[in-house]
This record gives sequence, structure tokens and C-alpha cells, in this order.
Amino acid sequence: MCGIVGYVGCNLAYPVLIDGLKKLEYRGYDSAGVALHAGNSLEVYKKEGKVANLEEYVYGKNIQATVGIGHTRWATHGVPSDRNAHPHLSNSGGIAMIHNGIIENYAQLKEELVLKGYTFKSDTDSEVLLNFIEDIKINNECSLEEAVRIALRRVVGAYVILLIDTDLPDTIIAARKGSPLVIGIGENAHYLGSDASPMLAYTKEVVYINDYELAIVKPDELILKNLGNERITPFVQKLDMELAAIEKGGFDHFMLKEIFEQPQTIFDSLRGRMDATIPAITLSGIEKIKGKILEANRIIIVACGTSWHAGLLAEYVIEELCRVNVEVEYASEFRYRNPIITDKDIIIAVSQSGETADTLVAIENAQKQGATIFGLVNVVGSSIARMSDAGAYTHAGPEIGVASTKAFTAQLAVLYLVALKIGQLKGTIENTLFNKLLEDLAKVPEHVQHILEDQNEHIREVAKKYTDARDFLYLGRGYNFPIALEGALKLKEISYIHAEGYPAAEMKHGPIALVDESLPVVFVATKDPYHEKIVSNIQEIKARKGMVVAVISQGDEVIPTLADDVIVVPQIHEIIAPILSVVPLQLLSYYIGLNRGLDVDKPRNLAKSVTVE
Ligand code: M6R
Repeated sequence: MCGIVGYVGCNLAYPVLIDGLKKLEYRGYDSAGVALHAGNSLEVYKKEGKVANLEEYVYGKNIQATVGIGHTRWATHGVPSDRNAHPHLSNSGGIAMIHNGIIENYAQLKEELVLKGYTFKSDTDSEVLLNFIEDIKINNECSLEEAVRIALRRVVGAYVILLIDTDLPDTIIAARKGSPLVIGIGENAHYLGSDASPMLAYTKEVVYINDYELAIVKPDELILKNLGNERITPFVQKLDMELAAIEKGGFDHFMLKEIFEQPQTIFDSLRGRMDATIPAITLSGIEKIKGKILEANRIIIVACGTSWHAGLLAEYVIEELCRVNVEVEYASEFRYRNPIITDKDIIIAVSQSGETADTLVAIENAQKQGATIFGLVNVVGSSIARMSDAGAYTHAGPEIGVASTKAFTAQLAVLYLVALKIGQLKGTIENTLFNKLLEDLAKVPEHVQHILEDQNEHIREVAKKYTDARDFLYLGRGYNFPIALEGALKLKEISYIHAEGYPAAEMKHGPIALVDESLPVVFVATKDPYHEKIVSNIQEIKARKGMVVAVISQGDEVIPTLADDVIVVPQIHEIIAPILSVVPLQLLSYYIGLNRGLDVDKPRNLAKSVTVE
């Protein structure tokens, strides 16, 4: 997630900005930059890579500015590179801006600006917004503050922006909607940041800026206004948080923070791509290879670990909705087999990092044999994203916990869209089902929010009962089977407890021999057409004295009479339900790992990105 910092005061701005950018490194980023007031002009320094690269680049320069802005970029539009790094300079060179967020209607704004003769040095939506603001300022002969206000009324999307202007030597203009902004109050100085970590060394007095507010920030003055130009009294709060707590957003671990971010990250991955009211799906990556998709004999999904589980669920969904053959392959196996690939194959590569070596080589091999590669990746500009012929980013933001949580649900959200879009293109999905699935998908963020609010404490209690178990079995049928696998993987990673995921009906072919009074069996048992069958499976476990924890749909009156513990999720179409069912299982693993005193963010022997085979 991008990080922003700003400083207006009497001291040198550059060291404050660099220090602030380092404090924001934990958010994940691919490039960094600063812009400073230098007399009548603006100086911009930016570099791909770490803040240390930027420091090296600036080393030896005599920067005397006392006003400046700085940015760490997590790419969304345009690959990580020097030219896509922030800050951006407007066409006149008179305004510099940093931006955190996504401008959804940037293409339309860009078209208008190009017609007026504007040129762009980067591929970013941010540079478009900056020039849009400059254009308004010039045409309306108004102040920067007024131009920002007018511009933001036309902007669709999320943003925090900080701007400096050669016409305003001691001022930063800032505004927010949907992305965080904090302003720290110092002695004859103000500090701006995505969170309070960059300013903690200087002040504990802060103002959290709300959506649709605009700040005019000078060394000795902070003016807050709404977009209607009315003054708002800043609400000053005293911070009593330590740095580590701020980085984790007040949560004890990144994993927990990322689990709780899911209502937002799922929303972000759907945003601008679907409209349940029309109803319609926009996925430019699918449009790009539409011809290939319509001719395809087969879709092969290639991935590892949690991403493979997302791929397995996608196999079920795509086959159901698109009536095309789908195979799901472990990338590590696929790359060393001699699979029969033709130019009628579409490969969907699913990867959070976009750098997993096995997945990368697997798709390289398939591409050489003529297959078309569609990358479903979280990290913009990563190797898999660059290699793909087309793709869709999952927009989950940086995932720091080694165990994948929010990246998984973002993958599922986008894979649902991919399946629905292909089904629509092929004419294999009925309108009523298409509309229902889109409607239910739109409700997922609020349902996940509800699960987190309603079930978190209960799951924490349930976890206590099972913390000392030696083994776990996770069972599910149909769309819930991949979630059983994912639940088992999460538990293994975080708690080091042996756990196996199985199709519920396969249990009687072997694993049932494991069942006794010491074995907890987790059923993913939300309502679907086979509900009675999973009820029978639960009875089979209970008959052998196993302990049953079941994730069930709201309104289920049968399973609570059989299971030892139930975790309730909202009722939703069975195809979409897995994206809800996985959330309690993430929490269950987290609390069991925590109870066992383990490092849940960095489990032993695991790496976040497996770039070796
Ligand atoms: O970055 P990728 O999605 O390609 O990574 C694949 C796996 O290494 C990853 O999902 C791994 O299984 C995680 N630790 C799961 O929590």
C-alpha cells in the first residue's frame, strides 16, 4: 500500500521526509520519491526500489527546502519504475503531487487532457489527476485549493493527495477520500502521513482527516475545510500508541490486521469491475484475449499453495458457469511433466507475489508451446504479471503476514468475476443466475465485516478448546472442498499442528480410521444442495466420538444439534459462499497459533515469496 509523508516547518524537510518514508516501509512498496520547494521551483527525486536507493541518489545534494512531500509507491497503474514513482510534476512544472489510492475514471480524464495538449511522462492515474487539477487552476484562474476542490468533485475513486505549488512557498494542500491521512501538530511545523508512524518522533498531537476534507497546511496554521469550502474545526487527539502498534494498525499481528482488512480488500478487488445494478462486468484482461477464450479447448490453472486452492475453487466455478474443460495444476509438478499444450489452451496463473519460481517457469514453458497466459497476480509489475499476455490484478495491497489471507479472498473475488465474464461471453450462464451471483458478490464485503464483528470473540473461545490437539481433519464437499484444504493449510502453517483437508465423502475411504475422541474435525458445511449428505458425514464422525467444529449458514437448525461447536456465516449462494467460509478458518488458525505461543506472522521454515524451486 502506498505511503505518504509531508513536512512544512522551519527545519530542513528532506531528513524528516526520508525518516518518515523509512517508517512507512512496513506497508510494502516498490519505489520512493520526494518533492521539495526550492525557491521558485520544485525539485523532484524518485527511484525504483528501496528508500535507501533514493537516499543514495540524492546523496551529496544540498537540499535547503523546509517544505516537501514524500511517497512510497505500491504500483496499481503502471509497472514499478523511476518514471511511475511519485511525486509527479504537472505539465507546467509548477505543481508536484503524491497520491495514495486509485482514480477509477482516469482514462476519461486523460482523454480530455490529451485533447487539450497535455502530455504524460508516466502510466499512472495519479499524473492524470495532477494535470486535471492544474488544468482547472489555469482555466479558472483560481487558487490551487479551489482547483483541487473542483477536481475532486469529478473524481471517482479513492485518494489521499498532497500537493505543493511554486505559487505557495510555505503550504501543502492535502485531501482525502477512502485512504488514510493523519496530520501531526508540531512547534511551528506540521507533519503529514498515511499513519502516525512518520511523525511519532516529533509530536504526539494529531488530527485524523476524514473523507471529503481538504487541509491547507502551513508551519503555524492548519485549516480544514469540506469540499463545499466550509471551515471545519480540527479535532486534535493525543496519541498513546507505540510505533509497532501503529504499523499493525492497532492489531497484535499483521496476519490479524490482514484478516480484518478483508471487507475493504475484497471491495477493492471488485471495485470498478462489476456493477450489480446494470448488471455488468468489466475486465479488460479478458476482453483482450476474448477471441482466444472463445476458441479455447481448455483452461489450465497453474499455482502453488493457497493460490492453488483458489485455482481449485475456480475450476469448479468455471466448469459450472462456462462449460469449458478446466484443469488445476501444481506449478511444481506441471513444469517437470511433459504436458500436452496447444495454442487452444488458456493458462491462468494465480499468484500473490507474482514471483513464485515454479509458477513462473510453468507458464514460461506453456507460453513457448503456444498457450495464452492470463496472470492473476497481486503484486503489480511482478515477473508473472510482466510475462502474461493479459491479466487482472487482485488489488489486495501488500500482504506482510507469511500466511496468505486477504490475498486469497481477493483471488477468489477476481476469479468469480473471470468465471462470470467468460460465462457471459460464451452465453453459457443464464441471466437470472448471472444477476443473482453478481448481487451476492456485491454483498460479500459487508458479510465478511459481519462475520468479523459477530464471530471473532466466539472463534477465539472455540480455539482455546482445540489448542492442544495433535491432528485436525478438515472436510468439505463441492465448492467447500477447496476451503477445507485451505483451512488445513492455514492451521499447519500457523500452529504447526498436523492437519489434512479431504473431500467429506472421501473420509470413509481411509481417513475415518483416524477418528477418535481426540480428533477435532472441522466441517465446512454451509447450505448447498448436498447439505443432507454433509449432515450424514458429521453423524459418522460423532458416532466415532470425534469432535466436530462446523462452519454453517445462518438459519441452519440441524448441524447445531450435532456439532460440538458451530461458527455461523451469512447465507449466500453456494457458489459464492466459500469466500465467506474461509474467514472463520483463518481466525481459528490465528488464535490456535497464538495460544501455542508461536510467531504467527513469520512461521518457521516459510518464506513469503518462494523464488527458488
Ligand atoms: O505468491 P504465491 O501466491 O505464488 O505463493 C504461493 C504459495 O507459496 C503461498 O500461497 C503459500 O502457500 C502461503 N504461505 C500460504 O499461506
